[in-house]
Amino acid sequence: MSTPRYTVPGMSTRDGGAVIELLNLRLHALNDLALTLKHVHWNVVGPHFIAVHEMLDPQVEAVRAMVDETAERISTLGGSPHGTPGALVAERTWDDYGIGRAGAIAHLGALDVVYTGLIEEHRAVARATEETDPVTQDMLIGQLHSLELFQWFVRAHLETAGGDLSTAGAGTERGAAERAAGGDSSA
Ligand SMILES: [Fe+2]
Repeated sequence: MSTPRYTVPGMSTRDGGAVIELLNLRLHALNDLALTLKHVHWNVVGPHFIAVHEMLDPQVEAVRAMVDETAERISTLGGSPHGTPGALVAERTWDDYGIGRAGAIAHLGALDVVYTGLIEEHRAVARATEETDPVTQDMLIGQLHSLELFQWFVRAHLETAGGDLSTAGAGTERGAAERAAGGDSSA
């Protein structure tokens, strides 16, 4: 962890450095999500194509705004946002999205897993910044309002009338995609 030369008033540079480090990984997660949502927008096929294709662009726009907000918070705290693709790939702790051309429901099953991972980490960092930086915490909570809503948009396609998710118990994108599609990844 590097300590910034200055940070926001009322906060130590040591705490500022810790928050900057946490936010750099959130920045990678959001940049990764924005790219992955566009990848799905381009690769989705099958009978639900237009609904899913069109559902995803507003999510991309909102997530890109979160990317900008997060990067500018890092700069405000006296840090340097790691905004290049090489830094994203070198520093991220998760695998690249692994599904190419596939049916809408398969992609949505995989996206459910993507959103779960990102939201869990966003909540963990929101908790971790409660004492040191409530302004960062407030930003993350604001982002979670939309991220959790977007995950529900995804999950509503995977939910039965009884309230069960077809992806329940799947821990990987591919496993969730197969469960969602009922073993038929072209669905
Ligand atoms: Fe497009």
